Amino acid sequence: MVRDSAHPATATITAQQLSEADLRSTADGSLTVHSVRFGQTYGSVHGAQAQARHVFVQGSGTDQGDEARVLEIGFGVGQNFRATLEARQDKALDYLAYEFDPVSAEVLRRLDPPEYPAWTALLNAWPPTPGTPLAVQVDQVRLRVQQQDALVADFPAGWATAVYLDGFSPDANPELWSETFLARVAFALAPGGVLTTYSAAGRVRRALQAAGLEVERCPGPPGKREFLRAVLP
Ligand SMILES: C[S@@+](CC[C@H](N)C(=O)[O-])C[C@H]1O[C@@H](n2cnc3c(N)ncnc32)[C@H](O)[C@@H]1O
Repeated sequence: MVRDSAHPATATITAQQLSEADLRSTADGSLTVHSVRFGQTYGSVHGAQAQARHVFVQGSGTDQGDEARVLEIGFGVGQNFRATLEARQDKALDYLAYEFDPVSAEVLRRLDPPEYPAWTALLNAWPPTPGTPLAVQVDQVRLRVQQQDALVADFPAGWATAVYLDGFSPDANPELWSETFLARVAFALAPGGVLTTYSAAGRVRRALQAAGLEVERCPGPPGKREFLRAVLP
């Protein structure tokens, strides 16, 4: 994922001050948003939608199978969620995301036409608040978004068929890439579950291996040579 520049995150939960001016067009025509707080874009400037499909949905195999339980670290602007809805169509999906700094509903509304009933339901219920997770159920799709710092969240053990590890870059958002945190995230995987992430950094690969996952480098989406795919044996 190409980001603009790096600013360290603060640990404080603050309201997002994003505006329509922060929307950016990406190479595949999809829109993303620039985060003032982190100095980076939420999705790849080389194609936000292409990356969501390639790395997270197809990379983790979430486009396949009758059942999918996705744990997402960093819900952001919901690009990965929309790509997952697109891929799964009528198949069951249970999606649990953590986001400590939700963007405004106005920004979310500008991103994509509301093609999916579950996305429309999300827009109507947005935003989550610290005491009240957003919960939406439409047909076979269940979505929960917890407004919480992922560092202190209790992830459901052995639950996820897929983990989308999608923080900002390891330099800008280092706490989401530490060995300690990745070990906790790996614990949420069901046997055979797959974690994917756009970063192919050696330190991320080693941290995932230290968490007991079998890690491979896969050909990346546009603008990116490789991404990581890590399986819990
Ligand atoms: C690259 S963006 C995620 C893009 C998103 N997955 C999407 O599909 O639109 C990274 C997200 O991680 C969130 N984040 C960063 N640190 C976090 C933390 N400690 N706990 C929860 N969310 C965090 C940021 O606020 C941001 O929304």
